[in-house]
Amino acid sequence: MDSQIVKVSPGAPTALARAWLWLGVMALIGSGLLALLLVFSRTPGIQDVFPLKEFFRSALVVHVDLSVAIWFMAFAAVIWSAVGGAGLAWLGWAGFALASIGTVVMTVSPFFPGAEPVLNNYIPVLKQDVFFASLWICGVGFSLAVLRALITTWPKRVFSEPLRFGGFVGAVAAFFALAAFFWSWAMVPKIDEPIYFEVLFWGGGHTLQFQHALLMVVAWLWIADHLGQPSKASPRALSILYLVAAFPLLAVPLIYLTVPPGSLPHMELFAKLMKWGHPYMGPLILVGMLSLWNVRKAAAHPAKSAFIASFALFALGGVLGYLIQGVNVVIPAHYHGSTVGVTLSFMGLAYVLLPTLGFGKPEGRMAVWQPYVYGGGQLIHVLGLAWSGGYGVQRKVAGAEQALHTLPQKLGMGMMGLGGAIAVIGGIMFILVCLKAMTSRKEK
Ligand code: HEM
Repeated sequence: MDSQIVKVSPGAPTALARAWLWLGVMALIGSGLLALLLVFSRTPGIQDVFPLKEFFRSALVVHVDLSVAIWFMAFAAVIWSAVGGAGLAWLGWAGFALASIGTVVMTVSPFFPGAEPVLNNYIPVLKQDVFFASLWICGVGFSLAVLRALITTWPKRVFSEPLRFGGFVGAVAAFFALAAFFWSWAMVPKIDEPIYFEVLFWGGGHTLQFQHALLMVVAWLWIADHLGQPSKASPRALSILYLVAAFPLLAVPLIYLTVPPGSLPHMELFAKLMKWGHPYMGPLILVGMLSLWNVRKAAAHPAKSAFIASFALFALGGVLGYLIQGVNVVIPAHYHGSTVGVTLSFMGLAYVLLPTLGFGKPEGRMAVWQPYVYGGGQLIHVLGLAWSGGYGVQRKVAGAEQALHTLPQKLGMGMMGLGGAIAVIGGIMFILVCLKAMTSRKEK
């Protein structure tokens, strides 16, 4: 197949993509620094002397929201701006301004009084007006970005621009997820119990995972194309595979229209949608795997390293997802395999887009090794969590509360700590490479 590389249009598409990349990188800095607090609060030995472990729960809330909500949505907006047209720039800038203000408010909210952490899944919260305000501001900001994406990424020739069509299908998934959040907010009876937030974000949270996985494949195929190995699948076949992968999304409005949000059957149906809906991504993942095989011949490049590490982590996360039994740290092991797989694909696409967006190139051996350090650290972190989960270590608890009594438990969580620290170093390397490129002018 001929190269399908997207030419990022000058003007609003480039300027908006640059702006959203800045927001994404800032969110990753915040989430990565908080990860260090989480890791040290759970590592045997270090946990006993680590002075900040009492902030573990608040740090976990902001770590998750800055990574899964802000970093992922901001980078999705980078992709939508880059593949999309130049229209409705004001809508894009309004969305960016609100999402940035919301992110700042979210980051400082733990320092305001009454920040009681609630560790529900998907979007954990601080039960506090400042934090809730940050969620609303971010929610409206990203909704404007998604609305613009739905209008500006629709391809001129549907079955012949697969990267753009993949971006569009990702925006449809985002629209369903945001609609689910607002629908649940409107329909779920408000009770002053932590379960309220679990139910509130359940539908939208499950739907967002389809957006992340779809855009991960867009990033993989964009990287492969950039490395001179465009996918062998025809543009038409690829576009149809994006439709197949997105087909289960039709269940989202169906579930909301037929089963009351907040009811147990409603939550069970979304858990089933994840279990039986994600396999529809299988053919696209296969195309991604074949592309990965083809780029093995390409010269060393930071984006190539990221593609390899991303595929390995995502595959591991997928396998661990089907090994979850009961509530223990196998769950965050699965989460980190999958979400860090997506994160690495976005890091790789960021490396491809930096010079295209008028920034400098990602240079030096540090850029080529960064994905392996981040991915390798996460691999150890994920395997440590999976091993510890097998020995019953609980999620979301720190220090002595973990009750690490046996050697296998201590070894497992020690491994989690070592891997987590290496991953944080890999995260810092990404930030350094990006900031160097983003603060230097592109050579003419
Ligand atoms: C430097 C990299 C990272 C490290 C060292 C790290 C470390 C951790 C740790 C130690 C926990 C607490 C687990 C528990 O107590 O149950 C956690 C939770 C979590 N992290 Fe990360 N993390 C990293 C990056 C990320 C990224 C990039 C994402 C998503 C994009 C992410 C998403 C999450 C989620 C969703 C949870 C909650 C897990 C649950 O609900 O059980 N993390 N992380």
